[in-house]
Amino acid sequence: MAIDKETELHYFQLLNDIASGERQHGMYIQAWADKTQDPELKACLSMVADREFSHYHIFKRRISELGYSWIEDSEDPVLEERLRVNGSDMPDVEKARFAKDKMAQRPSPTTRERCESAMSDDTVDPLTQSLLSWFSDVEVDSNFHLGQSYARIEANVE
Ligand SMILES: [Fe+2]
Repeated sequence: MAIDKETELHYFQLLNDIASGERQHGMYIQAWADKTQDPELKACLSMVADREFSHYHIFKRRISELGYSWIEDSEDPVLEERLRVNGSDMPDVEKARFAKDKMAQRPSPTTRERCESAMSDDTVDPLTQSLLSWFSDVEVDSNFHLGQSYARIEANVE
């Protein structure tokens, strides 16, 4: 049963932002995976895209378990730009630099920081806290693998 009462759950926005963000990350990372000719990079990007889509589904489900509905973000210019870049014929090394620049420009507080504060907030239900903790760990691991791939690609062109 999903009803719209997003104003009542103080961490609804965090869960909704995670679901929306993960869906978008999945889309543009998959677009790059579909385009690259580098099998190692393709495997890494596909793994991360699968994780992102899975996070989207899990957080959407959690929102609905709590009695709310995920609200889709309206047009996102950032998503459009990232899909355009990652779906283009631009070399992988340039896509990697673009991704790193975007990562460095993340708005503050970051999703990770918001998760950390929710994990230490006793008014957030324990199951959601444990979900946020697992999610944060997976994100760290995904970023580690992406970082390794970017470093390998950059080393290859130097
Ligand atoms: Fe993510």
